[in-house]
Amino acid sequence: MSAGPHGSPGPGDTRDERSAREPSSLRERLRALPTFAPGLPTLEPDATPSDPVTLFRAWIEEAIDAGVPLPHAMTLATAGASGEVHARTVILKDVDPSGWWFATVSTSPKARDLAENPHAALTFLWPVLGRQVRVTGPVTPADPATSAADFLARSDGSRAAALVGHQSEALASRQEYRDAFAGALARAQHDPTLIEPTWTAYALAPTSVEFWQASDDRGQTRLRYRAVGHDWEKGLLWP
Ligand SMILES: Cc1cc2nc3c(=O)[nH]c(=O)nc-3n(C[C@H](O)[C@H](O)[C@H](O)COP(=O)(O)O)c2cc1C
Repeated sequence: MSAGPHGSPGPGDTRDERSAREPSSLRERLRALPTFAPGLPTLEPDATPSDPVTLFRAWIEEAIDAGVPLPHAMTLATAGASGEVHARTVILKDVDPSGWWFATVSTSPKARDLAENPHAALTFLWPVLGRQVRVTGPVTPADPATSAADFLARSDGSRAAALVGHQSEALASRQEYRDAFAGALARAQHDPTLIEPTWTAYALAPTSVEFWQASDDRGQTRLRYRAVGHDWEKGLLWP
């Protein structure tokens, strides 16, 4: 294909040739984006509690109060025996002394990863507050009664979505899914005690929890808790 003089678009230019010459408008738009709006809260390390669960619970309460969209959505990163890393969003169900809770079907790729290698990582991003939290540690499936209770607490639609099954398998058509979902919804509504046997609650027991706080003057504070025996060791990290 011919290029025009001095890099100007020629009549037969392909899109790739044009975008190789022209500055990427996406790159410029990305570079021009603001980071955080002013008015951020601060993280005073000396005023933090001795355990990360207490601080996390305070922070997620503040995220809920601040109207952060989906403050309970977190990225879960796993790697199976091959070492290939997979990340996806899941919903935080609770945080207690056992750890950070989420739920999924035991037949899913993430559950297979966790069965092969329990070590996982979670990240939360709450942009309105300029905050990130990173949690790492081993993940353990709950007993069937706990998983069943979590399943039964879900809405009809959410139970139906789990009853459909086949998560992450190839789907021939959207109609096939719609039909399967409609059938599952009818079963869920007809029998509210119906339990999807593969539905499993998991707890990530933290070995490390890092709290990251941006500030209005563009400095950042990073505070990491590391499990040492039954205690927590707190320390600052270079941003
Ligand atoms: C906001 C949001 C919340 C989600 N919550 C869950 C969840 O709690 N459990 C779950 O299994 N999948 C959830 N998903 C879907 C997962 O991101 C993912 O697509 C699915 O679990 C398949 O992942 P896998 O193939 O790695 O197992 C959520 C997706 C989004 C965007």
